[in-house]
Amino acid sequence: MNISGKVFVVTGAGNGIGRVVTQLLLENGATVAGVDLNSEGLAKTAALVEAGARFSSHVVNITDREQVLALPAAVIGAHGNVDGVVNIAGVIQKFVKIIDLPFEEIEKVMNVNFWGTMNMIKAFLPVLIERPEASLVNVASMGAYAPVPGQVVYGASKAAVRLLTEGLYAELLDTNVAVTSVFPGAISTNIASNSGVAVSDKASSDSPAFKMTTPEAAGQAIVDAIRKGSFRVTIGTDASAMDKLARFSPKLAARTIAKKMGSLLG
Ligand SMILES: NC(=O)c1ccc[n+]([C@@H]2O[C@H](COP(=O)([O-])OP(=O)(O)OC[C@H]3O[C@@H](n4cnc5c(N)ncnc54)[C@H](O)[C@@H]3O)[C@@H](O)[C@H]2O)c1
Repeated sequence: MNISGKVFVVTGAGNGIGRVVTQLLLENGATVAGVDLNSEGLAKTAALVEAGARFSSHVVNITDREQVLALPAAVIGAHGNVDGVVNIAGVIQKFVKIIDLPFEEIEKVMNVNFWGTMNMIKAFLPVLIERPEASLVNVASMGAYAPVPGQVVYGASKAAVRLLTEGLYAELLDTNVAVTSVFPGAISTNIASNSGVAVSDKASSDSPAFKMTTPEAAGQAIVDAIRKGSFRVTIGTDASAMDKLARFSPKLAARTIAKKMGSLLG
């Protein structure tokens, strides 16, 4: 897709990867409707991009179906149309095993990561399918194929996003909508604190066990994938290595990660 002149809706635009994707799309001549529940984050993004009328802020909780279903009219009212939807908003869970994870926490993670993405898709797909050329991008995670102890519900929510996205790719094959799944490895954002989760010092970006990709590189990979209409993209050497290992032996992948990530628990 030629990004210039297109209108994109980006969720999670108030921070991290979503902010970078917003910035890069705008730099490439697109218009962006930024969606986030964090109004301060969105205001910061707006100040950073300085894009005037080419950027609009929409303070919306993607788990609130009514709010999400009202978004297409708001975005079309502001920008005339929608050519692309980039579902980036997401949260991680507390770093505890399932046995210690309260139901409320489980439901929150599934609600944001799965149902939030689903709400956006149901709201915007009828618009995208009518466009001459459109893009739908869903950000899953390396956790969708590599089980991480202490992030098992997060991984399950992202595995659901993965299958949802690959299934949509198949369902939309005969349409003009390109469907892309994104699998980032560890990215150096504030997702833990934004999700209200405490992380052990051992998980800091300085630790060789947790070499992180920058949000700038992650955002660039996503924008490149939109341009190419890629089926899937992994981000970071961790995500690509785990992708290979999980295909070769899911059991070995599970055991390798459990050994490496055990330090995050307890
Ligand atoms: N950071 C990583 O290591 C990593 C790794 C793999 C996948 N991902 C995925 O990438 C995506 C972006 O993560 P990030 O690291 O940029 O995180 P981030 O916390 O920096 O940004 C996420 C944004 O989503 C917003 N958000 C959260 N819940 C929302 C809701 N209910 N409604 C609307 N907005 C909501 C937050 O306010 C925040 O601005 C997430 O889906 C995450 O799961 C991140």
